[in-house]
Amino acid sequence: MPQLAARTGRAKPSAIMQVAEKAKRLKAEGRDIISFSIGVPNFLPGPHVYAAARDALDRDSGQYGANRGSDALLDAFVAHLERIGLPGYARANCASGIGAKHVLYTLAEVLLDEGDGLAFATPYWTTYLDIAEIVGADIRLLPCPPEQDYKLTPEQLDAALAKKPKVFLFNNPSNPTGMVYTRDEIAALADVLVRHPDTWIVTDDIYNAMVFDGIGYHHVVQARPELRERTVFVDSLSKTYGMPGWRVGLLAGPERVATAFATMNSNHITNVPEVVTAAAVAALSGPQDIPEAKRAEFQARRDVVMAALAQIPGVVCPKPAGAFYVFPDVSVAFGKSHGDLRIGDDVDLCNALLEAKGVACVPGSAFGEPRALRISYTCPEAQLAPGLDRIRAFFAELT
Ligand SMILES: Cc1ncc(COP(=O)(O)O)c(C=O)c1O
Repeated sequence: MPQLAARTGRAKPSAIMQVAEKAKRLKAEGRDIISFSIGVPNFLPGPHVYAAARDALDRDSGQYGANRGSDALLDAFVAHLERIGLPGYARANCASGIGAKHVLYTLAEVLLDEGDGLAFATPYWTTYLDIAEIVGADIRLLPCPPEQDYKLTPEQLDAALAKKPKVFLFNNPSNPTGMVYTRDEIAALADVLVRHPDTWIVTDDIYNAMVFDGIGYHHVVQARPELRERTVFVDSLSKTYGMPGWRVGLLAGPERVATAFATMNSNHITNVPEVVTAAAVAALSGPQDIPEAKRAEFQARRDVVMAALAQIPGVVCPKPAGAFYVFPDVSVAFGKSHGDLRIGDDVDLCNALLEAKGVACVPGSAFGEPRALRISYTCPEAQLAPGLDRIRAFFAELT
């Protein structure tokens, strides 16, 4: 009997999807479930996006497109980069793919040979670990516990880069913690990066439109422009424009990386489809009022969630300044029970919370931090306060 490739054994189904599936199943059974599990935006793109897609459908050539992405898409992305403070990129520096997930996966193939070092902070977005496992990278985790606000310090980065990983992957704002690096923090990390010229830098900044409290979005190439020659910026339309299902991801970086990426596309996806491209161009170039309004809404929701968590004795939560997640340290519950349900760890806790109160959260161990759980607060507005009340009640009932 022929065997599957060894890499399939290294690929795990997404832990986040597993929680979402269980919540869906309980809901189908008639349970009253509030889901704080999956990180999807709670809004749709503006009407101009749908109009552009319809128009493209009428004109659809039905032909293959450019592997890198259409000129219109690349131009719209270059203009978007300028708007968010990253000027100076041209079409030749850019490429597109089927969501940031596909862009990151392909970048791993472009930049890493089997056994090459890949360094990134924990807590991490679950897919980083899975992609790294699939491509056979030598994974180097940099622990950033709640005591350091889940943020990487310059000293930590310096020590990690001294071991010469081939790639350093950096996520700002962060999924799962929602933490955002300030201008000074970014500058301090950039100063370290400059001292380690043998490492590629990949920045996954897909939540760059969701930054609160006037902190602003900052990037290492702004602090140290010389980093451009080995830094790849990754973006996505999913969260900023409410378009996760349209599957558009983009990158900007050194020309040779973008070109190698397009070559991979030529042997893989070929191109982002024409109708999707038209919608993406409209989103990137059209009115930016929806992302702006959502940023204000999510900041207000963040405050509501933080206020609720502050009322739970022993739960510690560094205050996030972006994305739409909070990541409290809930280890105070470990060793306790809720009714008959004993809580040994974060997975037990999430199961008990779902069973007892119908609230779905994702265990922190899925992100490399088993003391925490992730709350995604993009649920319908009417569910937010009741969901938080249920969490508070759950903790109060622990014995
Ligand atoms: C940090 C991070 N990067 C990348 C992605 C993937 O985004 P996309 O929908 O563009 O594939 C996600 C999605 O949740 C994410 O949280």
